[in-house]
Amino acid sequence: MSFIHKAGTAVLRKLPAERAHMTTVKLLRAGFGPKIRAKNTSDLAVHIGGLDLPNPIGLAAGFDKDCDVPDAMLGAGFGFVECGTVTPKPQAGNPKPRLFRLTEDQAVINRMGFNNRGLEHFHARLGARHGRGGIVGANLGANKDSRDRAADYVTGLTRLWGKCDYFTINISSPNTPGLRKLQGADAMEDLLGRLCEKRMELTGDKPSYPMFLKVAPDLDFAEIERVVEQARQYGMDAIIVSNTTIARPDSLQSVHKGEGGGLSGQPLFESSTTILREFYAASQGSIDLIGVGGVSNGAQAYAKIRAGAKAVQLYSALVYHGPQLVAQICQDLSARLKAEGFDNILQAVGADN
Ligand SMILES: Cc1cc2nc3c(=O)[nH]c(=O)nc-3n(C[C@H](O)[C@H](O)[C@H](O)COP(=O)(O)O)c2cc1C
Repeated sequence: MSFIHKAGTAVLRKLPAERAHMTTVKLLRAGFGPKIRAKNTSDLAVHIGGLDLPNPIGLAAGFDKDCDVPDAMLGAGFGFVECGTVTPKPQAGNPKPRLFRLTEDQAVINRMGFNNRGLEHFHARLGARHGRGGIVGANLGANKDSRDRAADYVTGLTRLWGKCDYFTINISSPNTPGLRKLQGADAMEDLLGRLCEKRMELTGDKPSYPMFLKVAPDLDFAEIERVVEQARQYGMDAIIVSNTTIARPDSLQSVHKGEGGGLSGQPLFESSTTILREFYAASQGSIDLIGVGGVSNGAQAYAKIRAGAKAVQLYSALVYHGPQLVAQICQDLSARLKAEGFDNILQAVGADN
């Protein structure tokens, strides 16, 4: 997706969406990435889910599915970068076209279907950056043709253990048929139970790696309460709220609004923030939350934090605003904290509730 600097962002937007994204990743891999490091000040440092972040703004999963450019993205100022979704075996994903810009709506629809080069490539890429620092997470998924999807997550965890800083269990992408059924009570019990057992075995007497659960924005309050309970029961360190939505708000203007897949960007902001607030109400601070969905400026990042998130992730806004956005959001957050008399972002978490 479009990402180099402001002019580059505009030029890349003239290409079809997926080609623009591939070009961007190639340029980043070749070293043409931005060096717009956000100024990390102590007011923005957060401890979340076992991680110490220099700032709370992270790159959401899906931008760097193969872990090709995590350091370039850290160089753009992100406080943490989530690569993936990676599946055990490489897979091609859905037929093209499968990625659409909804420019009038400042939104994106994708039905990529976990196109990725598989665990071995991802493992090698993490190995190649060993010792470089910066928080890099692995977002794990299951192959479309897998007969035991829970086993795929356990395979991902085992293969990448010790190679990255945290794991995200993604059971919320709408583009792998049936994947979101893993959010059901029985399926979650099986999946999280098996992951929890493997994690204990891998940890032994050493410090463990944080494990986050990423959920869909299309859950009702009873489901939210149950998901929180199960996440806590199986030792998840945070919940990421949320993935893309299958809903299509009436407000959409773009010709692409009828495309199938997950909707992200501006039209997702309100609904994903509402559900984040519900997760905060259900969890009462007993599990950390990461807010994702439609964040494109400091006010929206701050709204996620006030709704209950300790950190925020974004992706779609990069398409429209380019990488300088990260430093701008950090600067704006600092100003907002100061104006409200807070010394650190954690004091604002859940302030709206
Ligand atoms: C093109 C595209 C691909 C995505 N791929 C993934 C993915 O592989 N795994 C995942 O957990 N989320 C994926 N997402 C969802 C994002 O991580 C994020 O949850 C969602 O887009 C909402 O944030 P945003 O409005 O800032 O984009 C993808 C989003 C987009 C736009």
